[in-house]
Amino acid sequence: MTTCETAAVQSAPLRRDDIPGWFFSLDRAAFGHLLATQSAAGVAGDILELGSYLGRSAVLLGDHLRPGERLTVCDLFDSDAGDADNAAEMAMSYRRTLTRSAFEANYLAFHDALPEIVQAPTSALADGRIPADSCRFVHVDASHLYEHVAGDIAVARAALAADGLVALDDYRSEHTPGVSAAVWEAVFTGGLRPVLLTPMKFYGTWGDAAAAREVLLGRDWRAEGYTVDEDTIGGSRVLRLNYQVKAPVQRSTPRRLALDLLPPVATRATRRVLRTLRERRAVQPVRAV
Ligand SMILES: C[S@@+](CC[C@H](N)C(=O)[O-])C[C@H]1O[C@@H](n2cnc3c(N)ncnc32)[C@H](O)[C@@H]1O
Repeated sequence: MTTCETAAVQSAPLRRDDIPGWFFSLDRAAFGHLLATQSAAGVAGDILELGSYLGRSAVLLGDHLRPGERLTVCDLFDSDAGDADNAAEMAMSYRRTLTRSAFEANYLAFHDALPEIVQAPTSALADGRIPADSCRFVHVDASHLYEHVAGDIAVARAALAADGLVALDDYRSEHTPGVSAAVWEAVFTGGLRPVLLTPMKFYGTWGDAAAAREVLLGRDWRAEGYTVDEDTIGGSRVLRLNYQVKAPVQRSTPRRLALDLLPPVATRATRRVLRTLRERRAVQPVRAV
């Protein structure tokens, strides 16, 4: 953990980015777009998150709650895992930083009230405490073990209303093959329809995937600095969204030669002058996410 992360855990965060976690701008934009479009279309329903850590993604989910809707988060926080493999995962990645009270402090820095909190293994949700068909969005981001993720996907399926959306984290990371297995099993044998793939998350539905894709294509992602591609998997279309890679800046040959040949003091001075000139000329593009 970096000093910056320690500070964020110990004192209330000032900005959402100050909350440690693995929820980055591309998926923040995708969550925000999908949830806001549901709200604008009058789609009501609860939101469920399996695996919240210190609240980075939960805070955004809370932003989208409409009157009468409920956010439930389920996490072990500082309680024991139910099996040795899950305990090892917890010890390696979360134990040093994660407490329920840190999650609560982070969440309350941005919202007036806490969500419903289930401090337990996500398998506890299989008891039906989340009413069937009650949710419009479920984020699965808890254990990476195949058996657990397969169970989490079953919980999401039961909880989601028609056309509800599920986001499944870490479906393609090298260190999480169990997640990949569970996700693609759900696609090929469980009726889960892919909607969108980002580097971190798989988005799908057991409802109308084409309608969800249209919602995504209603935004000009390219103008905001993202790439949009389309693939077909076993006859199903799926979108892919990623960050545009900025081309490396090519220096002109005389400028490169001058910077290479000048003594360090002169090079620093030259760079300062060039930077000042560039800044005077520059109009900084602003990207809202
Ligand atoms: C990757 S983190 C979640 C990150 C968070 N969604 C974010 O975007 O910042 C995974 C979380 O899952 C929790 N977790 C791991 N195994 C679990 C299990 N079997 N049941 C409930 N929570 C679990 C961990 O405590 C950890 O907080």
